[in-house]
Amino acid sequence: MRGPRAFARTLCRGAPALWPRGREGARGGSVVAGAKNAQAQQLQQQTVLVCPGSPSSSSFSSSASSSSSSSPSSSAVLLALRKHFLPVSFHTAAWDMAPGLDVGSGTRDGGLLNSYEAEPDRVAVIGSGNWGSVAARLAATNARRLPYFQDEVRVWVYEEKLSNGELLSDVINKTQENVKYLPNVKLGPNVVADPNLETAVKNATMLVFVMPHQFIEGICQKLKGKIRPDAKAISLIKGMEMGDDGPRLISREISEQLGIDCSVLMGANIANEIAVEQFSEATVGYRDDKETADKWVQVFGTPYFQVTHVQDVEGVELCGTLKNIVAIAAGLVDGLGMGNNTKAAIMRIGLKEMILFSKLLFPSVQDATFFESCGIADLITTCLGGRNRKVADAFSKHGGKRSFDELEVELLNGQKLQGVLTAKEVFGLLKAKDWEESFPLFSTVHAIATRHLPPSAIVEYSERAPRKIVGTPELHL
Ligand SMILES: NC(=O)c1ccc[n+]([C@@H]2O[C@H](COP(=O)([O-])OP(=O)(O)OC[C@H]3O[C@@H](n4cnc5c(N)ncnc54)[C@H](O)[C@@H]3O)[C@@H](O)[C@H]2O)c1
Repeated sequence: MRGPRAFARTLCRGAPALWPRGREGARGGSVVAGAKNAQAQQLQQQTVLVCPGSPSSSSFSSSASSSSSSSPSSSAVLLALRKHFLPVSFHTAAWDMAPGLDVGSGTRDGGLLNSYEAEPDRVAVIGSGNWGSVAARLAATNARRLPYFQDEVRVWVYEEKLSNGELLSDVINKTQENVKYLPNVKLGPNVVADPNLETAVKNATMLVFVMPHQFIEGICQKLKGKIRPDAKAISLIKGMEMGDDGPRLISREISEQLGIDCSVLMGANIANEIAVEQFSEATVGYRDDKETADKWVQVFGTPYFQVTHVQDVEGVELCGTLKNIVAIAAGLVDGLGMGNNTKAAIMRIGLKEMILFSKLLFPSVQDATFFESCGIADLITTCLGGRNRKVADAFSKHGGKRSFDELEVELLNGQKLQGVLTAKEVFGLLKAKDWEESFPLFSTVHAIATRHLPPSAIVEYSERAPRKIVGTPELHL
């Protein structure tokens, strides 16, 4: 007779290695998702285990309890078994039947079994806007499915009273839906909305920061002394802060204020599209802890949301931050009624400025990062859709007579615009370093946003010849 542990091992081998992996991970070694179903079904028949919730689910608990004395780690194994059978209830068609998806070799064998014995990670999401809600949904799906995460994903909600007088967090808990920022999408039964920051992060080992960047400093202040010292963080926030000593990336801010490791996740990720499970990709940037980067891939990755990782925190984060300035420029040309050639030109020039700016500030930034999802793909999607493009389009159509602040309130229903603020922060640095003329697009966006130039200046800026900065890094593109 095989013990529960041997059974779990067999089951894990039969399970799909669906997790996306890092850039350095093998692209080959696909496992056909259907094969896992067949093997899981076979095992199910052999062992009379059934999905919890099915009419004969009691046979699961009886077989579970009969084996519970056989091994000290049997409860962890049982958790694993339960999670392997639970997915039946939430496997989407895309998940099971994604033909041709390169699902890779994954890490479920040895790594997963080792994880059974460790305390399962607890994920908390700090922020519950449009992207925060989708991030919570992805994490909750994987938390339900994978044995090395605790089921519950707690989400800190900046409390708001809705127009009907109800509190947003109450409504999320009642309906599983963030009716204000992500209506008509269920977040998952294991998502708990919590307006109290301290209890939201209690015992969490994996902290996901996702909110408009202007709030991060205050949130970190409040979190000091409230989080586990061994917690790991990831920032999904696009933006930067200017300190007295120059620009401070959000990941650095979180790391320094809280004394914990902080990775980043960026990509061509318009939240509403991922919410309805349209295929897309994202990039995790990590500093030197590859094991944690692998875990972040497991927190977010699904067959429709392919996540890879690269060892370049600054490169990934700067891509996500700077592309919002280019998106403002793209919206301005849309509002001027110009065509695709113009927009493509703006995107090309913008990408060059993004690369130059990143490499001047952080020489370690790699050129290859700009060709990951966080780079060129995010730039394209943001310039075609997205809130920055949308508001800039309206600003341009109004001939610059209505301010970005006013249009943000009118068009974004509480969502925050990032590009204008980022342009201001970047311009402050360009001015301080006397680099303005080397970044004509970034400088012009700021001048237009502050109404020192008309929207039409966006296609006239090249008349100011770019000046080469002494010591400009070579771009190997
Ligand atoms: N929405 C997207 O498609 C998307 C995609 C990728 C990345 N991002 C990035 O993710 C980050 C968060 O964006 P989002 O879309 O989740 O948020 P959002 O802009 O949709 O929503 C605003 C959020 O800010 C909260 N808020 C308002 N006032 C606050 C305060 N004083 N303190 C703290 N929170 C407050 C609101 O409650 C709400 O949760 C941003 O940096 C954004 O650039 C967004």
